[in-house]
Amino acid sequence: MEQMKVILEDQEIPRQWYNIQADLPTPLRPPLHPATGKPVGPDDLAPIFPMNIIEQEVSRERWLDIPEDVLAKYLLWRPSPLRRARNFEKCLDAPVRIYYKDEGVSPAGSHKPNAAIPMAYYNKVFGTKRMATETGAGQWGSALGMACQMFGLQCRVYMVKVSYNQKPYRRMLMNAWGAECLSSPSDQTATGRKILSDDPDSPGSLGIAISEAIEDAVTHPNTKYGLGSVLNHVLVYQSIIGLEAEKQMAKIGEYPDVVLGCAGGGSNFAGISLPFVRDKIHGKKVSVVAAEPTSCPSLTRGPFAYDFGDIAQTTPLLAMHTLGHDFVPAPIHAGGLRYHGMAPIVSHLLVEGLIEARSYDQVETFDAGVKWARSEGFLPAPETNHVIAAVVQEAARAREEGKEKVILFNWSGHGLIDLSSYDSYLSGQLTPYELPEAEIERALRTIQRFPKP
Ligand SMILES: Cc1ncc(COP(=O)(O)O)c(C=O)c1O
Repeated sequence: MEQMKVILEDQEIPRQWYNIQADLPTPLRPPLHPATGKPVGPDDLAPIFPMNIIEQEVSRERWLDIPEDVLAKYLLWRPSPLRRARNFEKCLDAPVRIYYKDEGVSPAGSHKPNAAIPMAYYNKVFGTKRMATETGAGQWGSALGMACQMFGLQCRVYMVKVSYNQKPYRRMLMNAWGAECLSSPSDQTATGRKILSDDPDSPGSLGIAISEAIEDAVTHPNTKYGLGSVLNHVLVYQSIIGLEAEKQMAKIGEYPDVVLGCAGGGSNFAGISLPFVRDKIHGKKVSVVAAEPTSCPSLTRGPFAYDFGDIAQTTPLLAMHTLGHDFVPAPIHAGGLRYHGMAPIVSHLLVEGLIEARSYDQVETFDAGVKWARSEGFLPAPETNHVIAAVVQEAARAREEGKEKVILFNWSGHGLIDLSSYDSYLSGQLTPYELPEAEIERALRTIQRFPKP
């Protein structure tokens, strides 16, 4: 019998998260205060985040202990299986062995609870009573809704309008877990009201929803904000994916030639890849590839620059690949990949040449996702289809080069609540979309006046 999956016992779950800041050959550029142009300090972040999370955000410690209460919740679905995609391999007919971390087994169906659970936990310990957040596809909002419920916190989610309309079941899931979910832009914040008065049909964007959630947090008592991607602490929490994968690969005597993940804000890509980037920094030969949409190509076409994380310019200036904080992406179905910026850590690794980035259009990604579903059975999330398209490309390269290759990728979530997007694809309504060059020029103008990294 051929082995199809590698399972870790509960006792084998990693007890610490990994923080790549300890191993970076050159340090990250610091976030800057927009008014002074000086690096922000922990106190600048205190109105929106609890201090225990701020400490992790700025930490340079290599290993951070995972609290017992967080481990207890992780064990509901973790360690997640490492699966071998033998059927997909056959259908690609290439000399590759494909392994993937199945993050679709979490209660919310994606990697997002890996960060939501510790975030709710640390807020609870700090004394927060209520959290506000944004969500694109609805995966993060549902994950944080569930996590807040587990730790007895209230939760309000601002969901990007286009996804709110495309994905009603995600809102219902949030409601089932006790969270409130509003379509963003909403009439609940000054930012939302301003955008609605300028453009009542605004499809929304993550940049807008983040502004609304931050405004909510600073205008409500005992409320803190939670961001589902981008920031250092979120990437640290997601490192559990790659740390488990390392152990699982070692169990079967394998090591990847290439590690891949799809990248929206960068958290699941970082989660699977950072432990392997660490190996690379220390001399190991491994390629690391981020896959993003051609409609929102922050890594492949956006400049590396200081920019705001949100439209209302409330966040510190972050050094990242960006399409401009007021960028409103086309309403593609991969709602979780529609963010103008990229995690500073991921952006930094690209600048340092430690990772690569590639972009794929939505038709190509659904082609790959449907091929996957028809061979492996599991239906991927539209975001996950991007990394599957990249895997197809890697396999084709291996075939052309006649070289055996071990591929490891992160299957970031299932698509069972995204069936309407499959319906659009299968009925021929999806069209390829490439961001026009004028949009990149516009992005450059938006960030012109900010300090340069
Ligand atoms: C299934 C899935 N994959 C990937 C992403 C992209 O987010 P990130 O780049 O932070 O992993 C999302 C975001 O919502 C998602 O829901």
